[in-house]
Amino acid sequence: MRSSLRHTRRVVARYGHARTPCSHLQSRAAAAGQPATQPPPAQTITARIQTRSLSISPSRSSSVNPEEISHFNALASSWWDPLGPSRVLHQMNPLRHDFIRQCQNSSATSSFAPGQKLRYLDVGCGGGIFAESAARLPTTESVTAIDPSTEILAVARRHAARDPALSTTLTYLNKTIDDLPLPTTSATQEDTTTTTTTTRFDVVSLFEVIEHVDNPSAFLDRCGQFVKPGGWLILSTIARTWTSWFTTNLVAEDIIGMVPKGTHDWNKYINEHELREFFRGRPEWWGAPQVFGVVYVPGLGWKEVKGSEKVGNYFFGVQRIQ
Ligand SMILES: C[S@@+](CC[C@H](N)C(=O)[O-])C[C@H]1O[C@@H](n2cnc3c(N)ncnc32)[C@H](O)[C@@H]1O
Repeated sequence: MRSSLRHTRRVVARYGHARTPCSHLQSRAAAAGQPATQPPPAQTITARIQTRSLSISPSRSSSVNPEEISHFNALASSWWDPLGPSRVLHQMNPLRHDFIRQCQNSSATSSFAPGQKLRYLDVGCGGGIFAESAARLPTTESVTAIDPSTEILAVARRHAARDPALSTTLTYLNKTIDDLPLPTTSATQEDTTTTTTTTRFDVVSLFEVIEHVDNPSAFLDRCGQFVKPGGWLILSTIARTWTSWFTTNLVAEDIIGMVPKGTHDWNKYINEHELREFFRGRPEWWGAPQVFGVVYVPGLGWKEVKGSEKVGNYFFGVQRIQ
């Protein structure tokens, strides 16, 4: 409870009013040297520079926040416990596949021919909840799954090693999206693990990741470059509203402890309309988004609730048009 009150005070002190923080996309875009309609608060930039100087060398990705990584490192050993701290991610997993199918069915064009198998890039894969499940689908050619946390990646690799069938479809890399070489335009390059070439993917997924990265605009732009024309960039995140503060920070973290304390920084949440604006500003690359709001119902898990994307957790997918 104390941490939430501290957090609210921080928000109010920073913005004067907890409902009107600058957008995470805008502020981080400005920090990345991109135009923003609102300048980021000086305190945020200073804090970010100080944080980064702690342990991330300049050659590391600018999207990586060391505090976030140490938080997730501490959760690594319990990642695959379906009743442990990552249980909400386990429970969300079936909806991820539903949403990807919904996106693909929404469009007459796709990055793959009928009957052709899909190539996935799962960014911020954690212990591999989605990556493993995607790699087991009969419609999957390959899954490349990346995460900057060494400890979580070790857990992911150990878990995947239990199922020999995954060895041919699933590749884990302890990398950020900035470490991956940009894709070539050639359709014939097939090796996703070399340091020199990468091909584009049918699905690039960022599940519950963007609210944990620094410079989200640059991060999204970079991730987008790995999507094939006709393929999809799929993400899930949380809207920045009083409701999400109440449910994800106060109730889930502080009162019932369903999610470990410190997992979420409400200031880094991104609203669905901000994502829409971000992709609308890049019309040469991206089509109209698909959105799917979800609500956690105790005892039942995650359920789609139309309109809830405006207030809490949601899925967001955009198709690359060229
Ligand atoms: C809430 S977990 C989600 C894990 C996984 N996507 C899932 O839903 O099961 C967030 C993950 O994002 C990773 N992460 C944090 N910063 C990142 C960055 N800059 N780039 C990629 N992944 C990052 C963390 O290491 C962590 O594994």
